Amino acid sequence: MAQEIENYIRDADVSDAEAIARIHVRSWQVAYRGMMPDSLLDNLSVQDRILQWQKRLTDHKESTLVVETGGSVAGWATFGQSRDDDAGARTGELTAIYLDPLVWGRGLGKLLYREIEKRLQQAAFTEVTLWVLEANSRARRFYSSIGYAEEDGTTKSVLREGVEIPEIRVRYRKALGSSVNPISSTEIAGARCPIDIKSLNSCSG
Ligand SMILES: CC(C)(COP(=O)(O)OP(=O)(O)OC[C@H]1O[C@@H](n2cnc3c(N)ncnc32)[C@H](O)[C@@H]1OP(=O)(O)O)[C@@H](O)C(=O)NCCC(=O)NCCS
Repeated sequence: MAQEIENYIRDADVSDAEAIARIHVRSWQVAYRGMMPDSLLDNLSVQDRILQWQKRLTDHKESTLVVETGGSVAGWATFGQSRDDDAGARTGELTAIYLDPLVWGRGLGKLLYREIEKRLQQAAFTEVTLWVLEANSRARRFYSSIGYAEEDGTTKSVLREGVEIPEIRVRYRKALGSSVNPISSTEIAGARCPIDIKSLNSCSG
């Protein structure tokens, strides 16, 4: 009989900096090919990202979760209070979610997102927004599938790896408490809790 692969969601710590940095670079290089200049993507440095992540995971200015599959980190996400000028105090933001391209489309993104939504609700946020590149159709389908609605697009000039790039980004918004698939009280309850992707059942502690 085939062995079940165990999946975990947990808080990231500084020892995850290298795994997160590697996924960060790989995911950008595959997801943003054709949306960002090749020169920018090809020159992304894992070493630079490791240093940035060591600092980010030490500063604790944002929350970072990782998803592990079969014992290895396969993706990560960051979230917190919205950074938008027009946001209220109860508006959270999904600031980033990146999975290793090898595991895209297997349900891990949805699983990771559910834990984020649960954390935001526990922190009394009533809605959550995010920004996504207009051209990033995979991610936009993903956000629609987890209950987000699209708002107007905004063109922003964003500084990426020292290069100013004009980007059309679209804001998505979701009211919390209106989950498409309600989160059960036992789901992803502990800091380190095995999850069965097929049934979305998990342990209780
Ligand atoms: C976006 C991302 C986090 C989604 O995670 P994922 O594990 O691939 O997505 P899931 O398998 O959980 O899919 C959830 C839903 O998204 C949609 N989806 C995901 N991959 C899809 C694909 N290749 N084609 C069509 N729809 C897709 C489906 O509607 C799916 O729902 P379903 O399982 O009921 O069919 C992941 O693909 C990723 O890291 N992409 C690159 C980085 C990126 O663009 N991040 C967002 C930056 S704003």
